[in-house]
Amino acid sequence: MCESRAPLIRVLLVGCLTAALPAATPAQHLDSLLARMTLEEKLGQLHLPSANQRANREQLDLARRGLAGGFLNVHGREAARQAQQAALAARHKIPLLLGLDVIHGYRTTFPIPLAEASSFDPELVEAAARMAGREARAAGVNWTFAPMVDIARDPRWGRIAEGSGEDPYLGSVMAAARVRGFQEHVLATVKHFAAYGAAEAGRDYNTVDMSDRTLRDIYLPPFKAAVDAGVASVMTAFNDIGGVPASGSAWLTDTLLRREWGFDGFVVSDWTSVLELLQHGVAGSRAEAGRLALTAGVDMDMVSGIYLDSLAALVRANRIPLAVVDTAVKRILRAKVRLGLFTDPYREIPAPNANAARALARRMAHASIVLLKNEGNVLPLARSAQTIAVIGPLADNQLEPLGPWHAQGRRQDVVTVLAGIRAHVGTSAQVLHAAGCAIEDTATAGFAEAVAAARRAGVAIVVLGERHDMSGEAASRTSLGLPGVQQRLLEAVHATGTPVVLVLMNGRPLILEWAAERVPAILETWFLGVEAGSAIADVLFGTVNPSGRLPVTIPRTLGQIPLYYNHRNTGRPPSDSDKFTSKYIDVPVTPRYPFGYGLSYTTFAYRDLKLAAARLGQRDTLRASVTIANTGRREGTTVVQLYVRDEVASVTRPVRELKAFQRVTLRPGESRTVELRVAVADLAFWGPERRFVVEPGSFRLFVGPSSAEGLETRFEVR
Ligand code: BGC
Repeated sequence: MCESRAPLIRVLLVGCLTAALPAATPAQHLDSLLARMTLEEKLGQLHLPSANQRANREQLDLARRGLAGGFLNVHGREAARQAQQAALAARHKIPLLLGLDVIHGYRTTFPIPLAEASSFDPELVEAAARMAGREARAAGVNWTFAPMVDIARDPRWGRIAEGSGEDPYLGSVMAAARVRGFQEHVLATVKHFAAYGAAEAGRDYNTVDMSDRTLRDIYLPPFKAAVDAGVASVMTAFNDIGGVPASGSAWLTDTLLRREWGFDGFVVSDWTSVLELLQHGVAGSRAEAGRLALTAGVDMDMVSGIYLDSLAALVRANRIPLAVVDTAVKRILRAKVRLGLFTDPYREIPAPNANAARALARRMAHASIVLLKNEGNVLPLARSAQTIAVIGPLADNQLEPLGPWHAQGRRQDVVTVLAGIRAHVGTSAQVLHAAGCAIEDTATAGFAEAVAAARRAGVAIVVLGERHDMSGEAASRTSLGLPGVQQRLLEAVHATGTPVVLVLMNGRPLILEWAAERVPAILETWFLGVEAGSAIADVLFGTVNPSGRLPVTIPRTLGQIPLYYNHRNTGRPPSDSDKFTSKYIDVPVTPRYPFGYGLSYTTFAYRDLKLAAARLGQRDTLRASVTIANTGRREGTTVVQLYVRDEVASVTRPVRELKAFQRVTLRPGESRTVELRVAVADLAFWGPERRFVVEPGSFRLFVGPSSAEGLETRFEVR
């Protein structure tokens, strides 16, 4: 980048131009460079091979011949420098894009994205992304494959861990925050375009079929928000939508993304997703797959190698217009200009201070923890005068808190829950530890030790959940309980009568009815990264009052899936007094924990919901004020959430939609009036005429601490 801290979008192309290019306007530079390139060199710019941390000899040779646009998985200063040097030895000296999955941290692992979304704190999330981008750039990486913004309504799908959950508004806010944060130092990629999270049956890579309306209203908004925030690249998804694979969909990449949304960056395929057009059955040969993808607008071919090895012949035979290749190449070159690579291909920024990065990771982890239950105020724990049993296979585990993607995160940097608790209590309490069992084993031999520890203790902290690789890519599950014999361990510890605090670590919502009914205190911590144990201990002992809110619904049973708060009403909404309504005969229709839900160690009262105006025009902004009081005995933060319901429209509308939120921190006894704003234009939905409309009429408005509670009023749109 030209200026070290300037967001990429503000970087002037002119200022970044290189000695390798003649002095003229940027557009002319690129045109004249393009005019001097052979067809093979052009296709080379569209080729993205994967290295194994360093480019191998063959790959370096490719770069020296100007036949690679970049590499993925080259990182570390030296490896990056070596790859760039090879590219600069080529005829046109075009530097490389060096891409990596810096999803929630490069060296310093932050909480997984789903956890960060639980913070409802876009500023903090932006800061975390900025730090990750900075660490990555310091290691020679100039492009990240993040943010992943796929809406996920199905917790069987392991990649729910990588996104911001089920809500298009929260997802959009987080998408824009991450793009801004990352792009201070590296190019960002919004992925996976599109609707990848709607894989049938939650099975990764599976087919997707959905209405245009659901696509527009639910799945696309976070992508649009990333584009509006200036994201540099878009990655196409593996799935098909209604029979059209996303990596060969001219409608998605050209009509919608470029023409309708005005996206001016470049599009990259997902890993071999161009080649997979053969398996999808829409191309009969490599060349045909490449032609389909490139002409659809997929500029860069990740890993398949098809553009480089199969498209020259098609261009020469006029089956692909040269202009299509040129356009794609220009988009890649523009991204390199935008990064300032022509000016300084090696640009080495200093790595951020490791302590500062960890301190930020700890703050982010604090904000990501969701207190699901706290019966009888078991939490926070007193620091002294008790024996604490710390039990479970995740209690002293340094690997799993790193989560499914952890770039250069190292397990030795992870503070476990046991270590965090020990650091907190020092010598003032006795801490006993027993794993009890392994995460997925069937062996119960360790139960006796765990039960004995619980018996001796005043409280048992039981740390259970998933392995880091049980969520993320290719990690769909059909049962969402605790793996292995962990449930039995929990029951055995609970049977001792010692109060149990269940600390969950997992990459997706788990279904834990037994615990929800019987265990007095439950903390959902997702995977919190290197500071997991410190942050969890801070919350357990009340140094930090939890403030996270669920970005996804937690169902009661697997059979309820998909279950999400912004569902439509149906013609027969569930009613206890009428059998012939939309419900189950064996389980309630409601979730165990709703979207937006989370407790605090204090309590809040919401009152005096008022609107500045209750009749609004299409160009107006709704202004709703509410007074919140901290009615408990500790300082705490509530997340004020504003939802609307369009009462009568030309198509069916969700029963609630989140439109604004705000974190509000209050001292005990303090109250404050806050105002939330929603532009009337943001009430639009995909209407019957296949465009966004705000239809006049009356709306219900709810303001409260979750999607299932709140004060209510109404307003009219004229
Ligand atoms: C994933 C992407 C990732 C890419 C590169 C793919 O398998 O779907 O999310 O960015 O690999 O590692």
